[in-house]
Amino acid sequence: MSQLKAKADRRRGANGGGRRVYALLRAQIADGSLAVGAKLPSTRALAADLGVARSTVTVAYEQLAAEGFLATAPGRAARVAAPLAPDALAQAQPGSQPRLASVLSAYGQRVAGMELLTAQTSAAAPARIDFLYGAVAARDFPTLAWKRAYQAELLRQQPSLYYAAPEGDSGLRQALQGYLRRARGLACSAEQIVIVQGAQQAIDLCARLLLEPGSAYVFEDPGYVMARRCFEASGARGVAVPVDALGMDTSSLPFDAQVRLAYVTPSHQFPLGGVLPIARRQALLQWARQHNAWIVEDDYDGEFRYGQRPIDALQSIDADGRVIYIGTFSKALSPQLRLAYLVLPASLVPLFRKAKRLADRHAPVIEQRALASLIDSGAYERHVRRMRRENERRRSALLDAIRRRLPADAKVAGTAAGLHLVLWLPSLRPGHEPQLIAAARAAGVGVYAVSPLFARPQSAMPPRPAGLILGYASLTLAQIDEGMQRLADAIAALA
Ligand SMILES: Cc1ncc(COP(=O)(O)O)c(C=O)c1O
Repeated sequence: MSQLKAKADRRRGANGGGRRVYALLRAQIADGSLAVGAKLPSTRALAADLGVARSTVTVAYEQLAAEGFLATAPGRAARVAAPLAPDALAQAQPGSQPRLASVLSAYGQRVAGMELLTAQTSAAAPARIDFLYGAVAARDFPTLAWKRAYQAELLRQQPSLYYAAPEGDSGLRQALQGYLRRARGLACSAEQIVIVQGAQQAIDLCARLLLEPGSAYVFEDPGYVMARRCFEASGARGVAVPVDALGMDTSSLPFDAQVRLAYVTPSHQFPLGGVLPIARRQALLQWARQHNAWIVEDDYDGEFRYGQRPIDALQSIDADGRVIYIGTFSKALSPQLRLAYLVLPASLVPLFRKAKRLADRHAPVIEQRALASLIDSGAYERHVRRMRRENERRRSALLDAIRRRLPADAKVAGTAAGLHLVLWLPSLRPGHEPQLIAAARAAGVGVYAVSPLFARPQSAMPPRPAGLILGYASLTLAQIDEGMQRLADAIAALA
């Protein structure tokens, strides 16, 4: 035990006694220095040896016995009962592990086989100047207003803490109803609103509830991959509809009796940025009527339209109750809040409430109420107006830097709305995108390729240049300018 004592002496003072003795013994069992069957000293002897209270050692022994590492009996010395689980795992033969395919559901197998493309995986370190789309500046978050509203809700008396309603806080749904009428031209009732944890959960619920193997869905190509994957996971068949500068090309919508829904981003097509004109909106609604299909309208950044008032939501001209509207607070506040909402046709409300309850009971309550009070007080809309001005400045700086610093044939698309734009580089082919991205990253700049957002293979589409997606909502004006200079250098080196 002198070895034990030496180790305990080295760590003394770092943290609490019982946990330290426990960790020490457990480590010795794991590395075999205390073998199976080995007798441990009495609690009194070990306590004296380590210079700790006997009760400290007793607690550690009891914990190890409760976990099955020690065998203890009254009046007998404690013995090592079993090796640690990792050793047992290490000894397991490869063949003894279950084969995933035979123990997963069909849904699980589809998810296991998927590549979940997001702009930046959480493992990758951010670039020094990162044009990461979906990121917003932490300093833009209305910290003081949020803190005040959150604290007030935290201190509000509640008779008990029990689960809340699956559709979300009634105050937030009321506040949202007014906001959506003012900001998005939507005339809905608070009853139609279900609060969810991100547009992602809204999309996932749509996929689970409206699709199944044998059915089909329509999606924009290129489009939002994280939505497409939810629909794919349902086992339904996807039908890609091409996108042009105005958004989904509705003249290419399929005549397909199995289609149950179409997923669209009409206010600001992701990623190419088109704003769907009224004629196409009507064509899409007409097509949905003919197919008895739902339309999932993802209005992920509808607050951000520059120059003109944001265009009204597609749902505002839906006379049949076919459009499921999705809005999120990820762009105007933070993607880390995980707060978003569905505005449902009345016929779907009971179903989505049940599914939300099954998924996770409900969204976090204090956050919902804090948000409701920000909307009710007008602070939220003031914040959105400020963010629109702020991002308009960033967008202008980016356009200006592209004009001054990048090759003259570089073209931008999708600048009328949103928090990102697409940069086309006619001197390079799509095959150059990975090299360009790597060169930019080596120069401290994060940019993201357009090609992975296409579903159809390159060979099935008209030739196009290399394209990058540049998100600008998290950057300063100086970073935007420097980032474009560095990107220009990377392009020059490649060309
Ligand atoms: C098209 C689109 N829809 C939805 C989202 C994400 O929404 P949420 O954070 O609310 O899940 C994003 C995020 O970037 C997006 O680009």
